[in-house]
Amino acid sequence: MLAIGSDHGGFALKQEVKKHLEERGIEYKDWGCYDESSCDYPEMASRVATAIQRGEAELGLLFCGTGLGISMAANKYDGIRAACCSDYFSAKFTRVHNDANILCLGGRVLGAGLACELVDVFLDTPFEGGRHQRRIDQITEIERQQKQR
Ligand code: RB5
Repeated sequence: MLAIGSDHGGFALKQEVKKHLEERGIEYKDWGCYDESSCDYPEMASRVATAIQRGEAELGLLFCGTGLGISMAANKYDGIRAACCSDYFSAKFTRVHNDANILCLGGRVLGAGLACELVDVFLDTPFEGGRHQRRIDQITEIERQQKQR
């Protein structure tokens, strides 16, 4: 299961990507927003990040105007590695090297064609593990240390 969400700035692109996911037969849950009324990206990031933390979804897609604010908010959640990407190489290697679990896309940055390509490579690329796992463990350790400050 894939968890997806957006604010108003990412809503139109999310709708395009949803059509693409349906064509591919990929199951998703849309955590909002559900129209173009102004809303706040931290709330949408929170819904998707907590769905992943609870194990209701393995991966997520988040959309805002730039993809940036919503990625910053999502990365405040333990265990979330959200990557804002607008090129193919980054969308691929944030899975291979960073085991990213959320891809963030900018609705005011990307066209639907490129966004769907980025979504495909993100969803279809496995984490490589090995030496990269050590670095993920170090990120987890930073999260632990920050709680003790
Ligand atoms: C909303 O206007 C806009 O600030 C938001 O979608 C996003 O781009 C923030 O990073």
